[in-house]
This record gives sequence, structure tokens and C-alpha cells, in this order.
Amino acid sequence: MTQKVRKAIFPVGGLGTRFLPATKALPKEMLPVVDKPLIQYAVEEAAAAGIEEFIFVTGRGKHAIEDHFDVSYELDQTLSDRGKSDLLDMMQSWLPKPGQIAYTRQMQPLGLGHAVWCARDFVANEPFAVLLADDLVMADTPCLKQLIDIHDETGGSVVAVMDVPSEHTDRYGILDIESDDGRLASVKGLVEKPAPADAPSTLSIIGRYVLRPEVFDHLNKQEQGAGGEIQLTDAMATMIGNSPFHGLRFDGRRFDCGDKVGFLEANIAFALARSDLGESVQEVLSRYTDEK
Ligand code: G1P
Repeated sequence: MTQKVRKAIFPVGGLGTRFLPATKALPKEMLPVVDKPLIQYAVEEAAAAGIEEFIFVTGRGKHAIEDHFDVSYELDQTLSDRGKSDLLDMMQSWLPKPGQIAYTRQMQPLGLGHAVWCARDFVANEPFAVLLADDLVMADTPCLKQLIDIHDETGGSVVAVMDVPSEHTDRYGILDIESDDGRLASVKGLVEKPAPADAPSTLSIIGRYVLRPEVFDHLNKQEQGAGGEIQLTDAMATMIGNSPFHGLRFDGRRFDCGDKVGFLEANIAFALARSDLGESVQEVLSRYTDEK
């Protein structure tokens, strides 16, 4: 029997320079899509996939994230005084229970692999998930749940993947594929951000991972990879051959919320999907799209 995936790491130390000035005093993970911060989408996805421990790897200026996932006595009291019990229930419904959240600081911006490594003692010796809040996935079955189902079948590591245009391979971790049934690809190698000419495929990793704990054996070496950073992709590559490693073309739509256009598109898509907003947003959009 495979070990249950109970823990998830959320690397949230990044500066968010692409969204300045909005991110000067606000963590980029707190930017809202419609009315919910990006990081809350990721935490809710993890909870819906059965995650019980939420480990945040933070950095300077990220207090708003800790406050967001904490009780706010003043707010609760005010909502209760005003009889807004629906809002009060909604605000409490997504809060993890006391003790389910842990925070550690990355201290130095040495790369995604380093951020994940900073959480090693929280994870210890069990399979775990990593979610990058920048990658927002709209799906009927939470994207992470889809990955965990594959992990439970194979006992190995699984990353969420999608096909990208070949000129974009230098933005992603890219799979070298051994076999591929159109949904699940068995991986024989991984390359971080290769130039299109050097890319072994166009199948790209997006920010959802289920990893076996041996990935820390390599991260412990602190080796620098592409861009001089300690890369998670390089550490994952060393596990291939020792345990199953797959890429899953998940069901759902991914929005790159680390990019302005992707972030705006996510806002539109999530607003259109809302029963209380969809129609009026559609009407507003038509003012910009129907040439008069
Ligand atoms: C990171 C990873 C990369 C992955 C991407 C997904 O890159 O290093 O392998 O494809 O996330 O969003 P970043 O976007 O942090 O540069």
C-alpha cells in the first residue's frame, strides 16, 4: 500500500516584481482573483485533495498571508454583531484547524528547490505535495486530487503537465518522455527551462507536484542549476529510474497568474463561472468586444 499524501508545501517567498506597484506592500499570493486571494485557491484545492498539513515557505513582507489564515476576532465579532451569520460561516469554512499550518522562512532567494528544501523537516519521510499559487487551475476534480490518485496507483512521483507552444519551453520544466498514452506520460528525464532547440518535448510542468521524499537527498547537496538557482526540476530528475515518475495531463484549465494577461484572464474566467456575477460580467465584456 502506498503512503497517504498528507502534507503540502506552498512556496510563497517570491517577490512578485512583475506585479509592482501592487506587490510593494502586498504579497503577490494575496492578489485576488475575483474576491479570493490566489493562495486561498491553492489551500482550498489542497484541502479538497485530502491534505491535512499546510506548510508555507515564506519570506520578508509576507505577514498578510499568516493573518489571512488566522482567526480575526475583531472581524468575527463585527460580523456577528451585525447579524451577518452567512458571511461569518463562509469566513470560517476554509480556515485550516489550529496546528494544521506551519510557517518557515526561506531567508535567501536561492530558487524553488531551495524553498522546498527549507520545509524538509516538516515533511520528514513521507510523500508530499507542492503547490505554486501562481498557477491557478479551474477543474471539476481538484488538480492535486488528480495527481494524488495517480500517486496512489503507482506509488511514484507525479507532476501536472500541459503541452505548450515550442517557443515557450524556456519558461518551464520540460519532460523527456519514455512513453505516453495521451494522458499519462512516463518520464525518463527532466530539463529546467531549455531553449526550444534543446527541449526534449513541449510537455511542461505546471505548479502541482506529488513527490517522494527522496527528492530531499538531492536537494541536500544544494547544487545550482539553470539560472544559478537550486532547481526542484534537477532534484526530481535524480529520482527517475529509482521509482515511478509520471506527468499527468490533468483535466482542467490552468491560468498563469504570474503573468498580467494570464491573471486578468483568470479573473474573467472565474467571474463568468460565478452564478452571482457571470451574467453581469458577460454584459460588461460585450461592451469591449462588440465593435459598435
Ligand atoms: C517553476 C519551475 C518550473 C515549472 C514552473 C511552473 O518555474 O522551476 O519547472 O515549470 O514553476 O509554473 P518559475 O515559474 O518559478 O520560474
